[in-house]
Amino acid sequence: MQEKYSTSEIERLNAEFAACPPEELLRFFMGKFGGRIALSSSLSIEDQTITDMMLQIDSHARIFTLDTGRLFPETYSLLDRTNLHYNIRIEVFCPDTEALQRMVTEQGVNLFYESLEKRHLCCQVRKLEPLSRAFTGLDAWICGLRRSQSVTRDGMNRIEWDEKHGLLKINPLIDWTEEQTWEYIRTRHVPYNKLHDQGFPSIGCQPCTRAVKEGEDIRSGRWWWESPEHRECGLHSRER
Ligand code: ADX
Ligand code: SF4
Repeated sequence: MQEKYSTSEIERLNAEFAACPPEELLRFFMGKFGGRIALSSSLSIEDQTITDMMLQIDSHARIFTLDTGRLFPETYSLLDRTNLHYNIRIEVFCPDTEALQRMVTEQGVNLFYESLEKRHLCCQVRKLEPLSRAFTGLDAWICGLRRSQSVTRDGMNRIEWDEKHGLLKINPLIDWTEEQTWEYIRTRHVPYNKLHDQGFPSIGCQPCTRAVKEGEDIRSGRWWWESPEHRECGLHSRER
């Protein structure tokens, strides 16, 4: 496991890289960690942007995705299109078969609508446990979080110590706007999810994501039946 970074070291890194463009931040940390750093990609516009940046730096950059088994057909199609576009193979991590079978047999396939507890259980089995397997051999992970995505992401920084997983966490686009991200996608002709053209600004699992109306909060279509402060799957919980 990567050595713990102290709060002051993290503060120093954030100060050092405060004005650094995302590409340079990526170049630095990819150079530092080599094969021990990877992008965790949901194939969002942010993750597709980072994928494009990373592959310009190193065509063998490590990128993985968590296939929950409940993604939209459009997301699976984007996974294939991205692999084809860049001539890469994104690493796919799936839920543990036994745990998944037990959960759906005992709780039903759509347990997440019944309570917050059951929704968290589903995210644990379909996302969090596979994520912990994806972290094997890593010292750092890269994510596509942006502060303006949600109230739950307000206080996040570019470089963080992820206490829960014992890894350095790099958020290269933390201070980017949605417009900046789209600008990059269009300029570089980066493949993106077709659902974005149909009112889905933020896309997760199919049963837990719906379209939003113009002007509505971009994450209001995620777990829409829950209150805003609960709308996270646990990937980015901030225990420290
Ligand atoms: S979530 O926590 O609400 O699902 P969101 O969809 O905004 O997160 O994505 C935020 C970041 O979490 C992504 O940029 C990506 O780094 C990571 N992430 C989310 N879902 C996945 C997934 N299915 N596979 C890999 N990484 C993911
Ligand atoms: Fe399950 Fe919904 Fe979480 Fe996907 S987002 S893992 S379907 S609860």
